[in-house]
Amino acid sequence: MGKFFWAACLVSVFTASWALAGNGPETVDLKAAYKVEGKKSAVIFPHHKHQEKVECAKCHKDVKGGGPLVVDIVKLTSSSNDFHKKFCWPCHVEMKVPKGKSCKTCHR
Ligand code: HEC
Ligand code: HEC
Ligand code: HEC
Repeated sequence: MGKFFWAACLVSVFTASWALAGNGPETVDLKAAYKVEGKKSAVIFPHHKHQEKVECAKCHKDVKGGGPLVVDIVKLTSSSNDFHKKFCWPCHVEMKVPKGKSCKTCHR
């Protein structure tokens, strides 16, 4: 194998992983990410699935995606937590997501 071949391989590996990192993780365990305490089962947020239906800027302050969310998530306990009240539920209602407020849709 020539040097060029290996160089080309490295470049394609780097660009592929950069492209993936650009869209962020496929899923996010929000209980772990936000260190939420409580008895409800962890919410595994289907991030890439949302990207197929919703623009980055609907959720991220930066229109290109990544970085902070459009709302500040401060309260993390009980059913009146900020994920429910300010972020996940309002959009599910607005976009008429089937069973968008049913506990088991998110807490599997
Ligand atoms: C659209 C998604 C979604 C739905 C629907 C949803 N939740 Fe949540 N809930 C979350 C997220 C995100 C968190 C914070 C991350 C985590 O705890 O995994 C959370 C956290 C919680 C918490 C605080 C953490 C804990 O373990 O005590 C409670 C209590 C809770 N939810 C109860 C409910 C109940 C009851 C329902 C049904 C009425 C429900 N949730 C429906 C997304 C949802
Ligand atoms: C429906 C809401 C939603 C949409 C749409 C969305 N994201 Fe995200 N994104 C999140 C959440 C929630 C997280 C994880 C929690 C957090 O970062 O605070 C996240 C995390 C990320 C991360 C990781 C950030 C980090 O600090 O680890 C990147 C990168 C990212 N998103 C990029 C994008 C891009 C690019 C788009 C558009 C193609 C997009 N997101 C669309 C909600 C969304
Ligand atoms: C800006 C709008 C928006 C926000 C914010 C949002 N969602 Fe969604 N969500 C959607 C839409 C639209 C769908 C329907 C996707 C489809 O039909 O494939 C959906 C579907 C889902 C589903 C079902 C996916 C499936 O497999 O059928 C889950 C679980 C979910 N959302 C969790 C969450 C959680 C947890 C949050 C908050 C951390 C959240 N969503 C925030 C728009 C949103």
